[in-house]
Amino acid sequence: MCGIIGYTGPRACKGLILDGLERLEYRGYDSAGIVLLEDGALVRDRTVGKVADLRRLVGDNGSPATLGMGHTRWATHGGVFDRNAHPFLSNDGRIAVLMNGIVENYVDLRAEVVAGGHTLSSDTDTEALVHLLADAYEGDLVEAVRKVYPRLDGHFAFLALARDEPDRIVAARLAWPPLVVGKGDGEMYIASFLPAFLEQTRQVQHVEEGEIVDLRPDGARFWPIAGGPARERAVEEADATIEVAEKGGYETFMLKEIHEQPRAIADTIGERYRDGELHLDGIGLSDAELAEIDRVLIVGCGTALHAGLVGRYLIEEWAGVATEADVASEWRYRKAVFDPRTLVLAISQSGETADTLAAVQLARERGARVVAITNVMGSAVTRVADGVLYTRAGLEISVGSSKCFTAQIALMTLFALRLAQLRWRLEPARIAEIGRELERLPELVQRLLDDAAMHAKVEQLAREFSTHRFFLFLGRHIGLPICQEGALKLKELSYIPTDAYAAGEMKHGPIALLTDETPVVAVATDSHVYEKIVSNLQEVKARGAAVIAVVTEGNTNIHEHAQHVIEVPRTLPELEPILAVIPLQLLAYHIARELGLDIDKPRNLAKTVTVE
Ligand code: M6R
Repeated sequence: MCGIIGYTGPRACKGLILDGLERLEYRGYDSAGIVLLEDGALVRDRTVGKVADLRRLVGDNGSPATLGMGHTRWATHGGVFDRNAHPFLSNDGRIAVLMNGIVENYVDLRAEVVAGGHTLSSDTDTEALVHLLADAYEGDLVEAVRKVYPRLDGHFAFLALARDEPDRIVAARLAWPPLVVGKGDGEMYIASFLPAFLEQTRQVQHVEEGEIVDLRPDGARFWPIAGGPARERAVEEADATIEVAEKGGYETFMLKEIHEQPRAIADTIGERYRDGELHLDGIGLSDAELAEIDRVLIVGCGTALHAGLVGRYLIEEWAGVATEADVASEWRYRKAVFDPRTLVLAISQSGETADTLAAVQLARERGARVVAITNVMGSAVTRVADGVLYTRAGLEISVGSSKCFTAQIALMTLFALRLAQLRWRLEPARIAEIGRELERLPELVQRLLDDAAMHAKVEQLAREFSTHRFFLFLGRHIGLPICQEGALKLKELSYIPTDAYAAGEMKHGPIALLTDETPVVAVATDSHVYEKIVSNLQEVKARGAAVIAVVTEGNTNIHEHAQHVIEVPRTLPELEPILAVIPLQLLAYHIARELGLDIDKPRNLAKTVTVE
């Protein structure tokens, strides 16, 4: 969950590292730090706060350093204090280390280094590592890392520098925290994620799990930790451009990404649906195997799980396959029942979420087939699943997910249709009808995003309700996960408590929360449960609560039941959730904006959650 970057080459690197950290900041933003080799000394600066605070601290003065590395932190071990910010230095100032991830046996290691005479100045797991490296160091940092690495349990990626090796960075990776190398002209970068150095080079090499990387300005060498010769590693040209990591004229990444949804959905559907035919290349199961599936288990966290919950309705309804969706962190501790015809679908935008990865590993160990749905090429989940279906939403930077959610639903829709087709559960004419509507979806989403009246309404609601202390979201059937997503978006962006409930369940408890101060947001688009939700809205209205309803365009009857109405374009009821979530994303956005909050980097969160 932290972001890390290192540079070695001929150029003064302080600015490069700070710029890279800004691009990595979505990974964690409790504190930030940098270490530079200046005049033969490792000079470290770090501070609680964001990269902008670090930039203020270190100033814009030109440092001559041509070797350095930086870190942006999401706290795990040790509170958010300067002393726990990375990088860490050995007591003799010869070694510097920073890390993304966790060393699980840190208690023993900390005790060991203290017994060995080192002084600890932080509460972190990483600090033990720097002292172990200092003890192991005999003039060759790769050798020191080789000795120490086997002593570390957990999952991490770390970078290390030695004062006496002025052009070398050594990195190591265990399990899923990612590392990518950038090859420039006589200079090398290494970072958690490509955008950190994309402005400088698009030539990349991927670091595999269980590898040590030795970086010098003229290139990188990759060693398996288990021993053996250095491995060849192809240099690839990244297809991303730096624009993907820019706000492109929008005030935030979140707003930009909300507006990128038509493209994200269009690219995700892409060539996968053509003339009634569905092509799910990469799924890793033959048509015959897919047709045999009689149970689907969907796992994910947060927004990804909500997309999975939408998928559950579609798979059951169209393909007639029993489907469950569960929180990955819970599912992995259940005794889930499998047989060879069970398929696990793991959804993760980042492909790095520790709980989802652990669930996938467990499912594989128990013999299930696993298909990953992710937005990040080559991410950890792609390496452990049998097959991969990529959403093609482009890089999502805002911590609050938006375009990946709708792209995930589009992909779940294609998957459910394909399963239905292979199992002969839908007539070809019906598949063609759904396919046509799927192809229209990007245009409908665009129409909604171009609807000035919708934006004006949402902004007015944000002004009216931003000071309210609690929101209840109500939905039924496929509208329920959309409410769950709307409620999650609002709580994570605005810090206002929210709850999302099946509307029919409201009378069994949450109705006690309703007063004339409780806004109730309902997804009431046209469907077979529309009348049911209207009855529930009557119950809300009778308690004096204000109703904000998201409905299908042309619904005139809803005004009797809701004070505030937002219309979305008409499509098939099964596809309407993709449209209904957009005003909810914008409502959360504008409420957070009214409250003056940092929308792209909400309090305490991180974009990728690589700890359990
Ligand atoms: O990368 P993942 O899709 O696995 O991430 C899962 C959740 O951490 C993520 O969706 C989180 O809930 C977001 N903050 C939602 O906006």
